[in-house]
Amino acid sequence: MAQFELRCIECGKSHDMARPAYACSKCGNLLEVRIDIAAAKNALGRSEWKKRPISVWRYKELIPVDSKTKIHSLNEGGTPLLKCSRLGERIGVRNLKIKFDGTNPTGSFKDRGMTVGITKAVELGMKTVTCASTGNTSASLAAYAGLAGLRCVVLIPEGKVALGKLAQAMMHGALVVSVKGNFDQALDLVMKASEKLGMYVLNSVNPFRIEGQKTAAYEVCDQNDGRPPEYLYIPVGNGGNSAAYWKGFAEYESLGIVSNHPVVRGIQAEGAAPVANLFESNAKELVPVKKPDTVATAIRIGNPANWKKTVRAIKESGGYASVVSDEEILEAQKSLAKYEGIFAEPAGAAALAGLAKDVRLGKIDRSADVVCVSTGHGLKDPDIAIAQSVQPATIEASMKALEELLGGQ
Ligand code: F0G
Repeated sequence: MAQFELRCIECGKSHDMARPAYACSKCGNLLEVRIDIAAAKNALGRSEWKKRPISVWRYKELIPVDSKTKIHSLNEGGTPLLKCSRLGERIGVRNLKIKFDGTNPTGSFKDRGMTVGITKAVELGMKTVTCASTGNTSASLAAYAGLAGLRCVVLIPEGKVALGKLAQAMMHGALVVSVKGNFDQALDLVMKASEKLGMYVLNSVNPFRIEGQKTAAYEVCDQNDGRPPEYLYIPVGNGGNSAAYWKGFAEYESLGIVSNHPVVRGIQAEGAAPVANLFESNAKELVPVKKPDTVATAIRIGNPANWKKTVRAIKESGGYASVVSDEEILEAQKSLAKYEGIFAEPAGAAALAGLAKDVRLGKIDRSADVVCVSTGHGLKDPDIAIAQSVQPATIEASMKALEELLGGQ
């Protein structure tokens, strides 16, 4: 573990990794794990990591978990990077790929972070884990807590969590608490309650979650002939995943495994876009959106806890954050399903919607190598899918009726 240090992103204060911590004890800012590049190179050099299958734990030398710790895994990561020629042609880009993280064990990218976060929770001796969630984090946390035998308490915004996600959290045995308020209020409550009630928080303010999620960027490089794409489009909600991807790309570059990095473009839904607003207005501080709203309930967040990390990440990459409308998100969701066989939930189509918009506005070179991250599976939110689809036709069980329906073809 010599190659890791837990540090404040603002004042640089070092923190003990053997104790639960989510914010700097000196200045209150977010914490992140820093890798000592020389030590990490050494550890990789002594291992056979390239022979392991593509998955989160392929990169275990770059993940801050003690080598003696038992890993709690459902075989997460190793998700496909799919070349999307039909869709690329339709929207007007030649080299489009989708990193489909909806194929993780519980159907979203959260599993990458949760296998590390839960492994860490056990290592720290925690007995109860908790999170606030728009749905996917709670589904993933519940599954991994069950696997590791930990008590799980999840807080969700009342009436705003997609059905599939709710079903998952309930089936995996979490105590599901519906909060009369939005995600931001639920997260606030979780943070306040965690210390008092002795619960370990596994929202993306937990620095170990990010350490699992960054492996998606390593995977993208490894699956893209050892090169990062020129552009990465990614949805931004609480700001953890975009920061995690950037951390992964930046580390791979520092380690000399790749020789450059992508420009990261963060995409938010119009009605929940505090990070995009910050870029638009060139502001230094985030102005929270009080009543966030979007059909993409996963990213219905007005006060992202990781805003400093994601703003820094996007800026360092040379990118920016921008918005798409709910209509554009649903259009992208339908196109992914129809032309590429990829069923994503609305938030998992937001990045593609952002790319399509940038192409229309001439903000991207049509021959660029682009990866869009699709973060969650469409089965998570069946209501949205059914509401925007042609309903099934009902016929008698006869050839005549079927022929009539198909117009004699
Ligand atoms: N896409 C999906 C499908 C999500 O579930 C989330 C976040 C995001 C994108 C945004 O990622 O928050 O790291 O910027 N879902 C969280 C949850 C908030 O509670 O499940 P982020």
